[in-house]
Amino acid sequence: MGRKLLTEHINVEGIEKLDVYRKHGGYRSVEKALKTMTPDEVVEEVKKSGLRGRGGAGFPTGLKWSFLAKPEGVPRYLVCNADESEPGTFKDRELMSKLPHLLIEGMITGSYALGANTSYIYIRGELLYVLRILEKAIAEAYAAGFLGKNILGSGYDLDLFVHPGGGAYICGEETALLESLEGKRGNPRNKPPFPAVQGLYARPTVVNNVESIAAVPVIVNEGGDEYAKIGVGKSTGTKLFSACGHLNKPGIYEIELGLPVEEFIYSDEYCGGIWKGRDLKAVVAGGSSVPILPKELILKTATGEDRLMTYESLSDGGFITGTMLGSGGFIAMDETTNIVRNTWSFSRFYHHESCGQCSPCREGTGWLEKVLHRLVHGHGQMHDIDLLVSVAKQIEGNTICPLGEAAAWPVAAAVRHFRDEFEWHVTHPQEATKPGAVFPGK
Ligand code: NAI
Repeated sequence: MGRKLLTEHINVEGIEKLDVYRKHGGYRSVEKALKTMTPDEVVEEVKKSGLRGRGGAGFPTGLKWSFLAKPEGVPRYLVCNADESEPGTFKDRELMSKLPHLLIEGMITGSYALGANTSYIYIRGELLYVLRILEKAIAEAYAAGFLGKNILGSGYDLDLFVHPGGGAYICGEETALLESLEGKRGNPRNKPPFPAVQGLYARPTVVNNVESIAAVPVIVNEGGDEYAKIGVGKSTGTKLFSACGHLNKPGIYEIELGLPVEEFIYSDEYCGGIWKGRDLKAVVAGGSSVPILPKELILKTATGEDRLMTYESLSDGGFITGTMLGSGGFIAMDETTNIVRNTWSFSRFYHHESCGQCSPCREGTGWLEKVLHRLVHGHGQMHDIDLLVSVAKQIEGNTICPLGEAAAWPVAAAVRHFRDEFEWHVTHPQEATKPGAVFPGK
C-alpha cells in the first residue's frame, strides 16, 4: 500500500471544515513556517524535496521559487493555477472540493516563502461549486487568524482571493491565466520574460498548480529530505492520477512515483484491470496533450524494461521533448476503441480551444480536425495520413504557447503507432465508418 501524503484524510467526515481539518493536523505547516522558519528556509525545503510541477510540465517547484525576482518595494504574487481543463484530468477538482483547507494551507505557507502579501486561486469557471467551497473555507481561515493581518502574531500579512475563469481552456496556460486575471482576453504571452520576473501586473509572480501547492504543507512538516525519499530518481514524492476510460475502477489515485504502469492498471489496489474482460489497446498517460502509446509500449519501454509512473520513464524516446506523465490524466482504451475517431475527437477540442493568436495553431488545428473528419467519415485518401503528420510538424515549435504541440503531438503519435488503422479507414471506408466498428487488425 503506497503512502498517501495529500489524500490520507480525504474521506474523513467534515474534513472540508476548519475544525475537523485542524484535528487531523491541519495548518501545522503555517505555524511551523511562520514561527520557526525564515522564508528562504521554506524555499530550501521545497528545493530539497525535489517536488516537480504537478500541472503537467514537471518543472522543479523549488527552482521556480528561487527564480522569483525580489526587487525592493515591489509586490510579488503567488497564483494558484486551478484552471484544470485538460481532457482526462480531474484530480485538482477533487483536492479542492474535499480538502479546501489543504490548498489554503499550502497557499499561506507558499506565499510566506515567496514574500507575497496578496495571492490568488484562479479556478476554472465551470467549477462554481468548488469556488463556493473554497470561499467558505477561506472565510473560516480568516476568522481563525490564518489569513489577514499579522497571521498568528508573526507580523506576516496575507490576503487570498479566488477568481473564476470564463471557460476557456487556454486560460490554464500560465501567461494567458495572468492576462485573464488582469481582466483581459486570455492570450498567452511570449516567454521569456517568465512570470517569475514579469508576471501578474508585470510583477514577479509564481504560478503553481493546485497539487503542487497542496504538497507544500507535508514538505514543510516532514522536511524536504523525507519527501525526497519517496519515488525514484528525479521523480520524488507522490502524485495524483485521475484514471478514466475503459477501466474496472476508474477514479483518483495518489501513488508513490515509481509504481510500475502495469501494477497501476491491473492491480486491485488501483484500476483493477480493463473492463468487461477486454484487452488493453492504448493509453494516454498524462492528459490529452501527451502522445498516445499502444499497450506494448505503455507496459514496457522500447528496451523491454517495466514502464514506471515517473517523469523519466513515461517518455516517448525523444519523439516529444517533455514528459508524458503530464497532468496525471490517465486515459485507458480497450481493444474496441477506434483510434482514428478518438484522435479526431481530441483534435476537435484543440481546434475549438485555440485562442487564434498564432497562425500555425489557429489554422493548423483546423486542418488537423478537417483531415481527421474526412478519414473518420470515410472520405479520406492515403495521402491524408501523411498530410496529418506534415501539418503537425508545421505547428510544432511555431507557436507562443504549448497548445499547438498539445494538438499536434497526439495526432502525429496516433499515426506513428496506429498507421494501419488509419489506412483501414481509407481502404475499407464502409466498414470503418459503421457505428461501433472495430479495426480487425493487420
Ligand atoms: P513550461 O515548461 O513552459 O513551464 C513550466 C513552468 O516552469 C512555468 O511555470 C514556467 O514559468 C517555469 N519556467 C520554465 N523555465 C523557466 C525559467 N527559465 N525561469 C523561470 N521560470 C521558468 O510548461 P507550461 O507551459 O507551464 O506547461 C505545459 C504543460 O501543461 C504541458 O506539458 C501539459 O501537460 C500541461 N497542461 C496541463 C493542463 C491541466 O489542465 N492541468 C492543461 C493543459 C496543459
